[in-house]
Amino acid sequence: MFYRHIDDHLCLKLVSPFDAEAFFAIIDAERDRLGRWLPWVWAMNSVEEERKSLADLTGWPPPKQICTALVLDGQVIGSVGLPTIDLDAKWAEIGYWIGSAHEGKGYVTSGVRELEKLVFLDLGLAKTQISVDVDNVRSRSIPERLGYSLDGTLRRSLISDNSGRVADRCVYSLLREEWDARESANP
Ligand SMILES: CC(C)(COP(=O)(O)OP(=O)(O)OC[C@H]1O[C@@H](n2cnc3c(N)ncnc32)[C@H](O)[C@@H]1OP(=O)(O)O)[C@@H](O)C(=O)NCCC(=O)NCCS
Repeated sequence: MFYRHIDDHLCLKLVSPFDAEAFFAIIDAERDRLGRWLPWVWAMNSVEEERKSLADLTGWPPPKQICTALVLDGQVIGSVGLPTIDLDAKWAEIGYWIGSAHEGKGYVTSGVRELEKLVFLDLGLAKTQISVDVDNVRSRSIPERLGYSLDGTLRRSLISDNSGRVADRCVYSLLREEWDARESANP
C-alpha cells in the first residue's frame, strides 16, 4: 500500500489484495522452484486464494482513515492523508496542510498525486474527493491544477476555523478513468 524507495528502480511496497494477480502469476509459473523452499506456495492454487491470503495478511479492510507525513530530506514539513475512506461507495477524501516555509513548491501537489495512486491502485476505489472552503484559494488550486471537476458548492456546510463561522464548501472529484487519462498524458 505504501512505497519505500530503495533507489531509482527498486522499492518496497506494502501489499494489498489488489496485488493478488501479480503474486499469483509468479507463484503459478514457478511453483516447483518456489515450492521447494516455501511450503505455503502449494496452498495457493488460484488468484482468489492469493487474494484471500493477502487480505488476511494485511488485516484487510484498511483503516477508516490514513494520515501520512510529508518528509523532506528527513524533516517533517506537513501532511497529506485520507480522512475518509468509503470502501462501500468506493471513494476517498484527500486532505492536506504544509508549513509556510515549504509552501509554493509543489510538495503538496506531489503528495496528493501519490495518495491518488494509493486510492486507485492499492485500495481499488473509483473516486477521490477534495473538499475546500470556498475562500481557500490556495487549497482550491490543488484539485484545479490536477484536473479535478468541481462537483458543486455546498452552502454553509464546513467549519474551517474556530470562529464558529460555517462556510460554503467546494467539492472537487476525480474519477478513476479521469485519473488514468491524466496519468497517461502526464506520467
Ligand atoms: C493549502 C496548502 C496545503 C497549499 O500548499 P501549496 O504549497 O500552495 O501547494 P503545492 O505544494 O501544491 O504548491 C503549489 C505551488 O507550487 C508551485 N509549484 C512548483 N513546482 C510545482 C510542481 N512540480 N507541481 C505543482 N506545483 C508546483 C505551483 O506553481 C504553486 O505555486 P503558487 O503558490 O505560486 O501558485 C497550504 O497553503 C496550506 O497548508 N494552507 C493551510 C492549511 C490548509 O488550508 N489546508 C487545506 C484545507 S482544505
